[in-house]
Amino acid sequence: MKRTRVKEALKTTPTNQDILIKGWVRTFRNNQFIALNDGSTNNNIQIVVDFTNTDETILKRITTGAALSILGTLIASQGKGQTVEVVAKTLEILGDSDAEKFPLQPKKHSLEFLREIAHLRFRTNTFGAVFRLRNALAFAIHKFFNEKGFVYIHTPIITSSDAEGAGEMFRVTNFDIANPPKDENGNVDFKQDFFGKNTNLTVSGQLEGELAAMAFSDIYTFGPTFRAENSNTTRHLAEFWMIEPEMAFYDLNDNMDLAEELLKYVIKYAWDNNYEDLEFLNTRLAEEEKQKPQQDRSEFTLLEKLKFCLENSFERITYTQAIEILKESNHNKKKKFQYLVNEWGVDLQSEHERYLVEKHFKKPVILTDYPKYIKAFYMRQNDDGKTVRAMDILFPGIGEIVGGSQREERLEKLVTRMNEMNISTHELDWYLDTRRFGACEHAGFGLGFERLVLFVTGMTNIRDVIPFPRTPKNCEF
Ligand code: 4AD
Ligand code: MG
Repeated sequence: MKRTRVKEALKTTPTNQDILIKGWVRTFRNNQFIALNDGSTNNNIQIVVDFTNTDETILKRITTGAALSILGTLIASQGKGQTVEVVAKTLEILGDSDAEKFPLQPKKHSLEFLREIAHLRFRTNTFGAVFRLRNALAFAIHKFFNEKGFVYIHTPIITSSDAEGAGEMFRVTNFDIANPPKDENGNVDFKQDFFGKNTNLTVSGQLEGELAAMAFSDIYTFGPTFRAENSNTTRHLAEFWMIEPEMAFYDLNDNMDLAEELLKYVIKYAWDNNYEDLEFLNTRLAEEEKQKPQQDRSEFTLLEKLKFCLENSFERITYTQAIEILKESNHNKKKKFQYLVNEWGVDLQSEHERYLVEKHFKKPVILTDYPKYIKAFYMRQNDDGKTVRAMDILFPGIGEIVGGSQREERLEKLVTRMNEMNISTHELDWYLDTRRFGACEHAGFGLGFERLVLFVTGMTNIRDVIPFPRTPKNCEF
């Protein structure tokens, strides 16, 4: 007989039919009722055991965490809380779980504790919901681009270039690091390394993505990226997943339109297809909020936040306008910002981004035309000589969720900027070819996948939306 997933079983009309269910025990009550879960949904299926006719040694082995296989009859439930249940005919223990040692007990555990046992936290309701949503969002992203005729490009993980020019790279080598070969000047001789040169993990697939966009028009990447930035925050990971579309013949406005459409599409997809998990997380967040002092509580529930994002246009303003708003804000005047905003040109801190989104506009904001000094070399230079065609999308509770720009397609301007910023035109000669042969207006952006998952799930720490987070001084599992 074929196994039925719990989610399916719970939707099936009971007609006393035989059914085969497999899963893990969440709880076992009164030697009679098993709540069994197989990860297809947070809802458990109730298995009723005839304990008078079941061997005592078997009953003892039905413990939280144990894997079971049950062949039984699907009936309308006699009790409250579920519509169907399974009366067990045969029950097989597939894998025991020592109740004394199994760290997950049928009670509420803190997220900090669960992070330490990340290998088991998939089996909790919270992480069940989070990772089913993560899956749905990933699928929705591919669906969105596929429907628009974008080509999915796999850009390399190991590269020899620094796409952001920020020097935050993890080196890749197979040298004996205690004793690397040296050249005649006493420097490490990377010519003898595996790739014959200095290599690192990619910080972004953008530069290779641009090459592909110059042939397919519309492409996207969706892969892991790595940043060796020492940021121990609730929004930074050393290894994170990024979605990077790149479009020929797009200007910055087209770019913003696409980003806004993508975000709304994937949130809507999660709403339509994973509502049960969203509801669960909505309740979870509401309970967490209740623990906070009144003034720190969010005005909106998770579901309200998502709905609000779907129904409103994102506010679009320039960096210069944002600086004016921040400078004039009471927050700034009363010195409530850790970093006060007093001049044009400063980089925005997340406290400023969140002020604009959560306090001032109360909706997602797209900031454009940043000072060139705080942005990457490849962004298109404006005629004012000071700003570039950059855009960052800022979300409530998150801050920057998307970073992108129209690209500098004019070879001379690009080369001048690279020289100013000490970026080797020799190393990136292949990239410059896109500006030599058939250059055209183009644009793209990067969406941080975990920041998206944070927003949609209402979780507050980025370590809780990726199965095995990599952060400074932490690389477990
Ligand atoms: O703004 P970033 O650095 O932009 C780029 O990498 C461009 N090459 C993108 C492009 O135009 N194709 O990163 C893009 C997004 C950020 O907005 C943020 O959401 C996410 O990636 N991000 C991180 N997410 C988690 N941990 C980190 N350390 C992140 N750094 C960036
Ligand atoms: Mg950025």
